Amino acid sequence: MHIVFIGPPGVGKGTQANMLLEKHPMVKISTGDLLRESIRNQSSLGIKAKGFMEKGELVPDELVLGLVQEKISTPEAGKNTFIFDGFPRNIHQAKELDSILTSLRSKIDLVIDFTMDEEERIIRLTGRRMCPKCQRTYHTIFAKPKDDTLCDVCHILLVQRTDDNEQVIRQRSVVYWEHTKPLLNYYGERKVLANVDASRPIEKVFSEIEKLISSKKKK
Ligand code: AP5
Repeated sequence: MHIVFIGPPGVGKGTQANMLLEKHPMVKISTGDLLRESIRNQSSLGIKAKGFMEKGELVPDELVLGLVQEKISTPEAGKNTFIFDGFPRNIHQAKELDSILTSLRSKIDLVIDFTMDEEERIIRLTGRRMCPKCQRTYHTIFAKPKDDTLCDVCHILLVQRTDDNEQVIRQRSVVYWEHTKPLLNYYGERKVLANVDASRPIEKVFSEIEKLISSKKKK
């Protein structure tokens, strides 16, 4: 079973994907995380991607698709449950993903569309803090670490993502409406689309997602 999380920046896709991983044997493929890892490693892909990410623009498809292909085209892929977090981001990426999965005799079974108000998302993202080592995310109000500034697990200083400033967040939202939102029709036509109201507390959103997944498994 393979699941896609779609939604504008700050709706909680990464938070929910990480919670699923803690409870279920799944593999998360977050293109945002993979790209940030490439930047940290100063790989040639990371160097090319950095400028696009800092401006809130999409990284070119050929760079992103190479990363995803490498992650899922393994002999074990058919046995894994993938959660695609923030991928695909446009129709071209969705078609490429379908064709990779078809070659593995697999498909997308469930697409969860996270929705909530833009101003609330900006509060979430401007308060987001992240561990530079394990990538866990926190929030200065909604998901505080035990110590105000340190990661609960690695005990090192939390940082703010360079694209989490209001101007870039708004640009990421514009990019979402223009390039990513059309995917809702694409997956709606394939009858795999479900919606969650992401404005509710983290645990409420999580239990609805778990219900959606288990009802899909029963079908
Ligand atoms: P990416 O890393 O994918 O960022 P995004 O889509 O903008 O999403 P975010 O990570 O900002 O938000 P989220 O929904 O995961 O929220 P989170 O759970 O952290 O992409 C970054 C960039 O990489 C893109 O702009 C682009 O340049 C590039 N890129 C990535 N993929 C690409 C692709 N496929 N093609 C081309 N380019 C690509 O939650 C946010 C905060 O809110 C946290 O602090 C959290 O603690 C808190 N929170 C979460 N849920 C709740 C809740 N229910 N209540 C209260 N607080 C909550």
